[in-house]
Amino acid sequence: MDYPFAPPTALDPPDEWERLRAECPVSRIRMASGDEALLLTRYDDVRTLLADPRFTHHLTKPGAAKVADSESGGVFNDPGFASDMTSGEGHRRWRRMMSRSFTAKRVDELRPRIEEIAHGLLSEMDNPGDLIAALGFPLPVSVICELLGVPEEYRDRFSHWSDAMLNLTRYRQDELNTAAAEFRAFMAGHVRAKRENPGDDLISELTVVVDSEDGRMSELELIATAQGLLVAGHETTASMIGKMVAMLLTDRSRWERLLADRGLIPSAVEETLRFDANPNFGIPRYVSEQVTLGDETIPAGSTVITNLGSANRDACAFADAADMMLDRRPNPHLAFGAGPHSCLGQALARVELQTVLAVLLDRLPGLSLAVEPGELRRREGLIVGGLEELPVRW
Ligand code: HEM
Repeated sequence: MDYPFAPPTALDPPDEWERLRAECPVSRIRMASGDEALLLTRYDDVRTLLADPRFTHHLTKPGAAKVADSESGGVFNDPGFASDMTSGEGHRRWRRMMSRSFTAKRVDELRPRIEEIAHGLLSEMDNPGDLIAALGFPLPVSVICELLGVPEEYRDRFSHWSDAMLNLTRYRQDELNTAAAEFRAFMAGHVRAKRENPGDDLISELTVVVDSEDGRMSELELIATAQGLLVAGHETTASMIGKMVAMLLTDRSRWERLLADRGLIPSAVEETLRFDANPNFGIPRYVSEQVTLGDETIPAGSTVITNLGSANRDACAFADAADMMLDRRPNPHLAFGAGPHSCLGQALARVELQTVLAVLLDRLPGLSLAVEPGELRRREGLIVGGLEELPVRW
């Protein structure tokens, strides 16, 4: 079976998901690179596998299947750069250090700035216009710059570096390497500047926090951390802003319901994350020893792809899984992964999505799609799935 599957529309899931969940929970697939892997589609299997330390980040393993023809780096799979931070004890140490500095308080303090950034971007937006280009794409990069203490004038360059480092098709390998090198050179200077003259930002805090057991982050680790946050936090959030608004506008009653009850914003955001039928590829893992999963045996040396979108539509885990319920609670979706590598930035992503939604409801209550839902197109070729554009009017 060729993978990924073609979905019927930009927002609907491929038919294969339901069939595979029912009939073939561990299926053999062929990826764009021509290499083979195993695909998991059930909620319980996906969650179990992501929490199992025997399944590791796959690109660091020689012999692992290639997911795409040209594989870029990024936080998900950077084989060469500070790779001791991405698995095992090095990863646990990094997560401990990050959780001390990248706190809920720090994230919450960004809320007013995120609101301000959203208003600023919307003031510049054309009517009709593309919500992804005007708001979805620039907002998360500005927020990451705020988080890292990067001055305003570098934001366009940040955006370019991020796009190039994550994009799997639009850039050639040499362009991608140039972007990564420029980014690292900039961050090296930024880290040194923050060490000499700390501010109220994550990099400053990480340069000064010393823990007796974990020590302090080295300059290379700080640069890798900044790169990881940018690559993991930009395109993901940008795409999700577009998909969230699209899902809420394609059925106008959803938008009206939120206009009538803003208290639904947090649960509505969670439900759009669960309902997202377009998280594209899934999360790859590699297993070096034979593992049994339910009735299935996964041989040593396998690359396994966990399809988060399919898991989130599994009727065994969610009542009325095919319905979007803006007040669904609890909602233990897997959009942020699970286990030791689950999304480190999920609190920030939630605040960004909630803030964007609140600002849009307040400022543009008459917002509507400027095209038929069937005309929305998926953005192909990225690790993270998204829409090409989201034409709206108000
Ligand atoms: C809606 C937006 C987002 C989605 C859907 C998302 C999704 C994910 C997923 C599925 C993973 C797990 C990857 C794996 O298991 O290999 C992950 C990891 C990660 N995410 Fe997010 N993410 C989002 C936003 C963010 C933001 C805003 C940041 C930070 C600025 C961030 C930082 C990270 C980091 C650092 C990791 C790696 C964690 C680790 O390996 O320990 N993400 N994200």
